[in-house]
Formats: sequence, C-alpha cells, structure tokens
Amino acid sequence: MTANDRLTVAVLGPGGIGGLLAALLSRAGHRVICLAGDDTAKTLRTTGIHVRSGLFGDFTADVETDTELREPVDACLIAVKATALDAALTRVPPTALGDALVVPFLNGVEHPEALRTRYRPDRVAPAVIRAESTRVAPGQIEHASPFAEIDLTGDPVPRGHLDALAQALGAAGPTTRVLEDETATLWAKMSFLAPFALLTTHHALPLGDVRTRHREELTSLVEETAAVSRACGGPADPAQALARYDAFPPGTKSSMQRDAEAGRPLELDAIGGALLRAAERHGVPAPVTARLVGELKAAGH
Ligand SMILES: NC(=O)c1ccc[n+]([C@@H]2O[C@H](COP(=O)([O-])OP(=O)(O)OC[C@H]3O[C@@H](n4cnc5c(N)ncnc54)[C@H](OP(=O)(O)O)[C@@H]3O)[C@@H](O)[C@H]2O)c1
Repeated sequence: MTANDRLTVAVLGPGGIGGLLAALLSRAGHRVICLAGDDTAKTLRTTGIHVRSGLFGDFTADVETDTELREPVDACLIAVKATALDAALTRVPPTALGDALVVPFLNGVEHPEALRTRYRPDRVAPAVIRAESTRVAPGQIEHASPFAEIDLTGDPVPRGHLDALAQALGAAGPTTRVLEDETATLWAKMSFLAPFALLTTHHALPLGDVRTRHREELTSLVEETAAVSRACGGPADPAQALARYDAFPPGTKSSMQRDAEAGRPLELDAIGGALLRAAERHGVPAPVTARLVGELKAAGH
C-alpha cells in the first residue's frame, strides 16, 4: 500500500462511523467491501450507502458487501460498538487478512491489545475519530457535526502504512493526521469522552445541564480521569477538558446517552470499566468513576 494507490478497504460494521467512511472512500474511487449481517449486507448491496452531511454533501455511494472477509485487502476498518466486537470479529478471519492494516475506530483504550492477540500486532493501527454520525437505518447515514477528524496511530506499525492510509482517508474527506504516541492518542480521547459520557448518561441530561447543575461532580470526574490518563502515559489537562465542554452547544448529548435512551447496550465497560481497571492498575483513586459505573450497572445498563 502506497500513497495515491486505489485501495481495497473492508469495513466491519457499516454504521454511523463505518458507513460514513465506507461511502466517502468509495466516492473517492477506492474499492470498499462492507462486512455485515445478512440483512444489512443485502440492503447495502442493493441501495448503496446514502449519506446526508453538511460537510461532505448528500450523496449515494455503491459498495460491495459480504458477511465475511474472503480475500486480502489493504486495510480493514473496524467500526462496530465495543459490545458487538467479539461477535463481529468472527467475520474477519486472521488468515484472510494477509498483511492488511486493522484499524479500529472504537472509543476506549483496551481494544487494540485484544486485536493484537488475534491479528498481526504490527498491523493493528488504532484510530480516534471526532465526528457525530448516526446510522438512522441500514445504509442511511446522517453526519451531523460540521467536522470529521481522524487521528491514526499504532506504535509498532510501519510509518509508511499509516501515512498511505491517512492520505487516502484525508483525500476522501475527514481531516486525518498520523500521531506518534498511541497511548497519548487513545487517552486524549478517553479523557474527554469518559466524564462526558458517564455524566450525561447517569443524569439523563444534555451537556449544558451537566456542566451547570452538576459542575462539582464534573470537575471531580475530569480531574480523576486526568490523573488516570497521566498514570497511563497519556495527557492530563483538566482545565482544558472543562473549557472544551463549556464550548459545546448546551443540547449536546453523548452517544452513550443516546444508546441508553434507545434501550441499546452501552459501551460502559469499554469506557467506565476500562477507566476503573487502569486506575486500579496504577493505584490511582477513582471514587467518582466507581460510583457512577456502579449506579449505571445497578440501573440495568
Ligand atoms: N457515531 C459516532 O458519531 C461516533 C463518534 C466517535 C466514535 N464512535 C465510536 O465508533 C464505534 C462505532 O460506533 P457507531 O456509532 O458507528 O455504531 P453504530 O452506528 O451502532 O454502527 C455499528 C455497526 O456495527 C454493525 N454490527 C453490529 N454487530 C455486528 C456484527 N456481529 N457483524 C457485523 N456488523 C455488526 C451494525 O450493523 P447493523 O447496521 O446491521 O445493525 C452497525 O452497522 C463505537 O465505539 C463508538 O463509540 C462513534
């Protein structure tokens, strides 16, 4: 894989993020194979993926589909929720992948290690994406945020592979950079996301109400998360995180909160659970996280 090649890219989980990236890469001229269950695969094969996006326009892109990866590809993007990851990975046999990059877009910090036990460790290249994109029906994607930014990383991955994929993603639409430090990249997102997701979901309130009515709790949680991030080798800037929350529109909801509202499984273990496990490993107190995770679990999540 080199820059400017026409790539063959598999996308496991063509939902809010996977569907958006599949459609953008297809529109840019790459060969895209979406891996999904029977019904979704059939729908996408018939109708393509329709994207509605203020940033990228409204368009329909054709994609190939399959229920399992059966041929070598340049990269396999993984965009299922953490709760569906194990089941979904059965569609990507390690032998079919060849030397392909495995690029998970999941939120959280633990999935890269899990993927490296299954696939070539030096081909697992985690990505962080900042965007708000929703699969409103199979093959129907609404990209609502006026931005889509990807940070691609992977400490053991040869830099040329990362650069080539970043070039293809960037040319297709999302602003894409390659970052050197995998731990810092993943924890930067986690530090912002965990307090936002846990508190909006726990209180069933949008960010505007959380940051005013539950300011003290938000501040404690942000500081706690920053301390865990620092202990793990990630960034720690609680004041900056709070300033970012304050800059968002007051009605902003987290995707964990939307999942709770819709009765879907939450990525609670991948976010809150992972934070607690990291805190425990490094002996960092995390009482606010522990209480929130415990209460969300007790509420049946
Ligand atoms: N959406 C966002 O704006 C956003 C932003 C940043 C990060 N993220 C992260 O990105 C990840 C994906 O989130 P998302 O919102 O894109 O999820 P999503 O819209 O729910 O899409 C997940 C996709 O996975 C598919 N899937 C589920 N189980 C599968 C299986 N066993 N085999 C194959 N496909 C399967 C679903 O298929 P069906 O269509 O058939 O149900 C769906 O298309 C999460 O970790 C999330 O936290 C999301």
